[in-house]
Amino acid sequence: MRLVLLGPPGAGKGTQSVILAKQYKVPHISTGDILRESVKNGASLGLKAKSYMDKGELVPDDVVIGIAAERLKMADCKGGFILDGFPRTLKQAEGLDEALKGIGSGIDLVLYFETGEQVAITRLTGRRVCRKCGFNYHIKNIPPKKEGICDKCGGELFQRPDDTETTVRNRLVVYEQQTKPLIAYYEKKGVLKKVSGDLDVQELNDVLSKVFSEAQLV
Ligand code: AP5
Repeated sequence: MRLVLLGPPGAGKGTQSVILAKQYKVPHISTGDILRESVKNGASLGLKAKSYMDKGELVPDDVVIGIAAERLKMADCKGGFILDGFPRTLKQAEGLDEALKGIGSGIDLVLYFETGEQVAITRLTGRRVCRKCGFNYHIKNIPPKKEGICDKCGGELFQRPDDTETTVRNRLVVYEQQTKPLIAYYEKKGVLKKVSGDLDVQELNDVLSKVFSEAQLV
C-alpha cells in the first residue's frame, strides 16, 4: 500500500496516518514530523526550516524533496508507505515521481481529505501534542483523560507554535495557493480519491477501509 494523504492543515491526515500505519503495518512518513524533530535536535536543517514553519510558510522544495527521497529509500518502505503532508507543491509532486521511479515504485492512491475551513481552524487551535511521544489530542474532540497530560505516556501536552489562529489562517492560504493544484495533478493521473475529512476519526477510518478494499489494496 503506497499512499499519499492530501488535504488542508487540520484535515486529520496525521491522525489517520498513525492509525493506518498500525492497521496495515507500513511506515508513516510525515515531512512535518521530520522537520520538527530536526528543529528539536538543533540540526542545521531544523534551524533553516524553523523560520518558515513558525510563519506557516512552506519550507523550500529542494530541502523537502531531499528529505522525502532519502526516507523512501529506506528498507522499511519496500512493502509500502503513507506519505503525510508531502508532496505539497507541483515541484514536490514531480520530485516524488522521480524519487519513486528511482526505486522502481509508484503511488497506488492519493486520498484527498476534503475539509471545511472552520473545521480546520477549530481543530488546529484546539490541538494539543505530547512533548514526549508526539501523540495528538484535541481539547474538545479528542481530550486526554487528565487535562494537559498524555494518556499514553504521562508526558506534558503543549500547543504547537504554528497552531495559533493567525498562523493557521496563513497555513490555509498557503494550502489554497500552493497545494490545492495537486488535486488536478493526481486526478489527471487517475489515482485521486476524495473522502470527507469532516467525519469523526472512526467514521473516516471506516470509509478508508472500504476505499482500500474497493481498490483491492487489502
Ligand atoms: P505539518 O506538520 O505537515 O502540518 P499540516 O499539514 O499543516 O498538518 P497538520 O498536522 O496541521 O494537520 P493534519 O491534517 O495532519 O491534522 P491532524 O491529524 O494533526 O507541517 C507543518 C509545517 O512544516 C508546514 O506549515 C511547513 O512549514 C512544514 N512542512 C511540512 N511538510 C512540508 C512540505 N512537504 N513542504 C514544505 N514545507 C513543509 O489533526 C489536527 C487536530 O484535529 C488534532 O487536534 C486532532 O486530534 C484533531 N482531529 C483529527 N482528526 C479529527 C477528526 N476526524 N475529527 C475531529 N478531530 C480530529
